[in-house]
Amino acid sequence: MEKYSTETIQKNHQQYVLTSWSKQSGLLPKVMSKAHGVYFWDEQDKRYFDMSSQLVYTNVGHQHPKLLEAFKHIGDIPLSAPGFASASKSALARKITEYAPSNMKKVFFTCGGAESNEHAIKMARMVTGRYKIFSRYRSYHGATFGAGNLTGENRRLSVEPGIPGFVKFDIPYLYREVIDFNNEEQATEFYLKRLRQQILYEGPNTIAAVFIEPIPGSNGVIIPPKGYLEGIRALCDEFGILMVCDEVMSGFGRTGKMFAVDHYDFEPDMITFAKGVTSGYAPLGGVIVSNQVASYFDDHVLMTGLTYSGHTMCTQIGLETLKIYEKEKIIENTSHVGQTLAQRLDQLMCYSIVGQVRHIGLFAAVELVKDKKTREPLIQYGLDYGQDPVRLMNKFVSMLLEKGFYTYSHESSVIIAPPLVIKEDELNEAMDLFEAVIQEFEKEVTGIEHSTILPVK
Ligand SMILES: Cc1ncc(COP(=O)(O)O)c(C=O)c1O
Repeated sequence: MEKYSTETIQKNHQQYVLTSWSKQSGLLPKVMSKAHGVYFWDEQDKRYFDMSSQLVYTNVGHQHPKLLEAFKHIGDIPLSAPGFASASKSALARKITEYAPSNMKKVFFTCGGAESNEHAIKMARMVTGRYKIFSRYRSYHGATFGAGNLTGENRRLSVEPGIPGFVKFDIPYLYREVIDFNNEEQATEFYLKRLRQQILYEGPNTIAAVFIEPIPGSNGVIIPPKGYLEGIRALCDEFGILMVCDEVMSGFGRTGKMFAVDHYDFEPDMITFAKGVTSGYAPLGGVIVSNQVASYFDDHVLMTGLTYSGHTMCTQIGLETLKIYEKEKIIENTSHVGQTLAQRLDQLMCYSIVGQVRHIGLFAAVELVKDKKTREPLIQYGLDYGQDPVRLMNKFVSMLLEKGFYTYSHESSVIIAPPLVIKEDELNEAMDLFEAVIQEFEKEVTGIEHSTILPVK
């Protein structure tokens, strides 16, 4: 490939590329000169820990030799349209259904997360003959029009006024709940009762599906209270509503199990996935559907499709990725190193600017606050994406970057989701950098040296 200087790459980007979720003027995007495993290097050859796996997808690490090798053989299988059967498409679909909960039967392939949710919406409407779709506030399901309407956080505002029949319900985000529950069970009961009431108000016979991220990722790894997801399943069963779990971010090992739902005692009707299935090396996503949903389409036309559904290259890379998961025991590593991450994060609670840490496997968020007692967030809700007048979170993420720790934030939460191949010593080294920045930042926000602050529970 033709070699371009860093300056040319950046200049061409500024002049010709529209960058997502950003004001375009003033952007000076970094250029990766190389990457390997949990690291990448910038144009000045500075090394960074990739502590968000880019956008939570480089699960098997950067430039994995087995995947680079697989790309050399892409041409061996001819390109074929969705109507053809191909070795990689059929083998991958089989493998995914085998990994999925036992009620899952077939896969519809897409090219990414939003498209997967779009197709799950359509399938839910076709199967139930109903049109309303429930989803939660503080969720992210993608940026296309249907997925944007599912999305509950403020990135959905760009698709409003939205599609009729998309209804939002509240998420148990207990750290910011105004009601002071005695325990998780009480919170679960409250949220489920509220949801039941809302289903009744909306007319149960009009509701096709409830979409949830079992553990919302972009919005700060919000772990559900005990019994909550199982309770949603029960409500869906009561009213004949399909339950769709969006595992685009949480799926393929991120939480220490293949799917986040594997931590709980229920089976959804559909699971949407993307990112980790190819570790991001090729754009692939899909919808895994239950026996019941699959059977519906045995004698009803599946009125949807994509030119690249089950694309040969993408499914080959997916298949190779899952072989790496097995050979390198990626999920075992996630749950093992995840314990170290949990310890390191729990220790951060002694800092006055750390409001809450949330973690499961290698999926974590640190929520920063101005005041630990009042839980005043660093950024008020809705003032993200460069609209924060004080730009405190931008500052924090820049300080991390300066130290060689790459990640991103949402509202007042910083995401920590390294490649699932990270080793314990690498994680500890990265977390030392993180803690050093927390210390510096605490002084900047509070004006007090850390050592003078008593740990707050
Ligand atoms: C839970 C979830 N769903 C859907 C999406 C959208 O995926 P994509 O950007 O591949 O369309 C994302 C992206 O981050 C996600 O986290």
